[in-house]
Amino acid sequence: MEIVSSQAALRNMLARWKQGDSVSVGFVPTMGALHDGHLALVRAAQTENSRVVVSIFVNPTQFNNPHDFASYPRTSDADCAVLEALGTDAVYFPVADELYPNGMQAAHYNLAGLDTRMEGAARPGHFQGVATVVDALFEHVEPDRAYFGAKDFQQVAVIRQLVALRGGLPQVVACATVREADGLAMSSRNLLLTPAQRAAAPRIYAGLRQAAAALRTGATPAAARLQFEKHVHQSPELEVEYLDLAHPLTLELLPDHQVLSAESSAHYFAVVRAGNVRLIDNFPVE
Ligand code: PAJ
Repeated sequence: MEIVSSQAALRNMLARWKQGDSVSVGFVPTMGALHDGHLALVRAAQTENSRVVVSIFVNPTQFNNPHDFASYPRTSDADCAVLEALGTDAVYFPVADELYPNGMQAAHYNLAGLDTRMEGAARPGHFQGVATVVDALFEHVEPDRAYFGAKDFQQVAVIRQLVALRGGLPQVVACATVREADGLAMSSRNLLLTPAQRAAAPRIYAGLRQAAAALRTGATPAAARLQFEKHVHQSPELEVEYLDLAHPLTLELLPDHQVLSAESSAHYFAVVRAGNVRLIDNFPVE
């Protein structure tokens, strides 16, 4: 496995690879503290591409809370070990100045309103920061395909819009959310939970499933939300920040007091706090 950090070294490596016949590059951008959710993206990239690059960079411009940025887990030695064991071709640890030659700030993209609701409303500027770093990473790595997790459902929508602005490349591949055996969506932030918070956290997924089932049996979104809140708040460790019901493509919010029709598409988006840790999850209403 090659470990590169300067853009020049990355460029040399890619040029070397591309001397071969029909080389395709799959790319998995991450912030490290890798778990099985990230590794599922690497595996998917390996099945569809001849080479796979994983990047690890904790991106300051997408954090709107300095404490969250400072406490974000950083485990690069362990990350390299698992990526090597998986047969990853290269890990890219970009240099901040090369990703942000004009200073550490987000650019402004037309994200078609996909960045204003839910996580965008809760974390102003977050998705502009994500778009800025992913755009720069795409420029550096020039992948054919890039892999993202449905765990961050709204992020996938934002990245698809970014790719549309870039003229359609790379191809975006979304992979299913990987969960712990008890249903908790895997997340680097799960490392920050106390044992009591970790024990309570599966209520999020269970609550989402219950709420989705309630909607399909005729509950209004408002009633289903109350049911979700009641289930989650049975644990004093957890506090619901939001539960939104939106269209899966436009991300437009659905009315609170209107029962869903059989053919309507809807998707749940939730953030639940455990102390300072924000746990994010989402679930299709099928
Ligand atoms: P990070 O949180 O490290 O996640 C990297 C990728 O792994 C994202 O596409 C995310 O959706 C995916 N992922 C995380 N947990 C997952 C799970 N349980 N199942 C499936 N996929 C999962 O998302 C980011 O980093 C950053 O915003 C980034 C795109 C790297 C830009 O800085």
